[in-house]
Amino acid sequence: MLANRDMRTSLQSFGDFQADSLKETGQAGECQVNETFERIESTAQYCGFSLSHFAAIGDGKKNWKSSLMIEATVRPIGGEMDSLETLLDRCGGENQLTEELTNLYGGPLTFERRSEARPFVVVNFVTTIEGLTSYGIQGKAGGGWISGFNKQDVFIMGLLRSFADGVAVGANTLRSEPEHLWTSEFIDKDHETEFVKLRESLGKSRKNPVQIFVTSSGNVLDNMKNLPNAFSAPEVETLIVTTEKGKNVVEKEFKKFSVFPGILVANRVEKPNEVNIPMMMNRLLRDYEIEFLLIEGGSGFNGSVTHAEQYDEYFQAISPKIIGTDKNNPRQISVSGFERSPENSLPHNLISVKNHKNYLFLRWRLN
Ligand SMILES: NC(=O)c1ccc[n+]([C@@H]2O[C@H](COP(=O)([O-])OP(=O)(O)OC[C@H]3O[C@@H](n4cnc5c(N)ncnc54)[C@H](OP(=O)(O)O)[C@@H]3O)[C@@H](O)[C@H]2O)c1
Repeated sequence: MLANRDMRTSLQSFGDFQADSLKETGQAGECQVNETFERIESTAQYCGFSLSHFAAIGDGKKNWKSSLMIEATVRPIGGEMDSLETLLDRCGGENQLTEELTNLYGGPLTFERRSEARPFVVVNFVTTIEGLTSYGIQGKAGGGWISGFNKQDVFIMGLLRSFADGVAVGANTLRSEPEHLWTSEFIDKDHETEFVKLRESLGKSRKNPVQIFVTSSGNVLDNMKNLPNAFSAPEVETLIVTTEKGKNVVEKEFKKFSVFPGILVANRVEKPNEVNIPMMMNRLLRDYEIEFLLIEGGSGFNGSVTHAEQYDEYFQAISPKIIGTDKNNPRQISVSGFERSPENSLPHNLISVKNHKNYLFLRWRLN
């Protein structure tokens, strides 16, 4: 085994080499970048490194062209994951997890539908100690940088995605992480086999949850040169939820790529510029058979769902760091876009508390 410093040097020179070859070929095409990732991944694996560590090295390099794409591709690999420790569990219900997943999760997990009018809805996010969810730095805006690519956090994300018939995010999250795929396998490859078993035992008809993007403007692609991964990945269904006006923009934008994603228009006539969240929920259940919907941010979309009281539970991971925020360039909190009075605040029950080392994993249920 190489010494730590040697591994770092060897990966760094490999990174230099890759960055130079990307530079030589000019603007890197998607294929070249993917090929590069594969080589980086196998080299990192060979050296016993995780890609998140490698990304940290690569990102510091001036001529590193593809740090944004690397961010989306990094995930902890290799090595055993320590099980979560359960400090409190008031959830009840019959365990739906496999034995292996029960061990890793540190106990049982189950969900029960509470409304006939909409899917069961879970909102999942990671925050710092002070409740921030993004550095707001290009290439480092995703939740992974907040959690430090914590294995237990990605495991819980993979677990929740295995329960989900659909994963919905706001358009900014897609625009800031165009390489991301909202599937269990993408976020936590280490536990892929167990997640597949769980999906089978839950009787899910789809291999992966539908990837749902919510936009008012319809400008999901925002002049991107390449199509986000979600729209070209095999065995992944996509759906864009938008307004009547937004629909025209979506169709125009996607036509350039000869791609025609599913579109759901869900606005009230009197509010033409926003997706009506109860209407969206109802249509997702009725027309797309989405019985379990996972909401994965960002702050604005979480806010729309929360203010409309269209959710059942919050899963909140707390990363043991403080990153600060500046009034001229504020960093995002987990939920935004509305205010409530003390009389009208949303009450929650704390139903589960887990931890691993200094990380906390909370589960809240809306009263
Ligand atoms: N820490 C974490 O766990 C975590 C999780 C996810 C994301 N993030 C990060 O959070 C950041 C994104 O957060 P954000 O608050 O800027 O954006 P966001 O919530 O991802 O997206 C906001 C956009 O969603 C659309 N939208 C939301 N509610 C809508 C409604 N009711 N009707 C119609 N459209 C609606 C609008 O799209 P249009 O602008 O197209 O109209 C709006 O501008 C990213 O940096 C992301 O990486 C962190």
